[in-house]
Amino acid sequence: MRIWKHAALAGAALMIAIGSAAAQDVKIGFIVKQPEEPWFQDEWKFAQQAAKEKGFTLVEIGAQDGEKVQSAIDNLGAQGAQGFIICTPDVKLGPGIAAKAAANDLKLMTVDDRLVDNEGKPIESVPHMGISATKIGETVGQAIADEIKSRGWDMSQVGMIKVSYDQLPTAVDRVEGATSVLQKAGFPADHIFNAPQAKTDTEAALNAATTVINAHPDIKHWVAVGLNDEAVLGAVRATESVGIPPENVIGVGIGGADSAINEFKKPNPTGFFGTVIISPKRHGYETALDMYDWIANGKEPDKLTLTSGQLATRADYQKVRQDLGLQ
Ligand code: GLA
Repeated sequence: MRIWKHAALAGAALMIAIGSAAAQDVKIGFIVKQPEEPWFQDEWKFAQQAAKEKGFTLVEIGAQDGEKVQSAIDNLGAQGAQGFIICTPDVKLGPGIAAKAAANDLKLMTVDDRLVDNEGKPIESVPHMGISATKIGETVGQAIADEIKSRGWDMSQVGMIKVSYDQLPTAVDRVEGATSVLQKAGFPADHIFNAPQAKTDTEAALNAATTVINAHPDIKHWVAVGLNDEAVLGAVRATESVGIPPENVIGVGIGGADSAINEFKKPNPTGFFGTVIISPKRHGYETALDMYDWIANGKEPDKLTLTSGQLATRADYQKVRQDLGLQ
């Protein structure tokens, strides 16, 4: 009897030992499409925080195209990783990414940009965390509508630079959310000018916006919307480059990372009026923890988690950041 009890205790101790050894053996990849963008650097930072807390290894990988994604996944497989989280450079790589993950016996979760299948439909079997794109876009549109009103502009004489990136569904939803609210508020549909960007960075947005502005020299007041802060900053830089004064421009971005904050810190206001702050902590820390839990404890993450955003302007960004626990 006594012997059995001891054996059971020894067994329990062994189980605990195995449990803690497992954490050290867990290796998780975190692949992002644009490693130079502050948003993704913040995601990595918070994912590393989860790794440190739980004791697993997090491998940061930047993959700007499909080829790099493929080799990153093979590499993770060869290194003995058990899973990865990815924000893909192209959502259409979905079926290929899922197949590569399976071939390497890696658990797969996506963040920010949701994979689509060959018909363009979201791959619902892969757990995903993204932002509530339409709702956040609507917040952008409302902020612009309110500011147009408070500046006393005649809505019928304002032009919109709609920086678009239509191959990315979350980008479409964000921009559509913003334009739909503005149109409901009376913004003329024929003053919405599409500025398709070739890449999702500030330079590509600047180029796209410059074309639009040059085509409409008669427009005095401009508003700008886009997928993220970088897109809207590109549009704002374009207005500056042709000499439109900042008080004639209202740009509201999405993100709230350093790109936006540095803009607010400039001594004089620019056309970048505000941003909807979203949470890199939730996207980085939570996805990394979810993946860890899946690997170590067999607990599958929720199939879909959508996170929210909070408007901040040059005037109140410090307080909003404080309220969100960001300072
Ligand atoms: C996309 C954008 C990023 C960021 C994330 C947030 O990936 O490209 O800039 O906005 O969504 O989920």
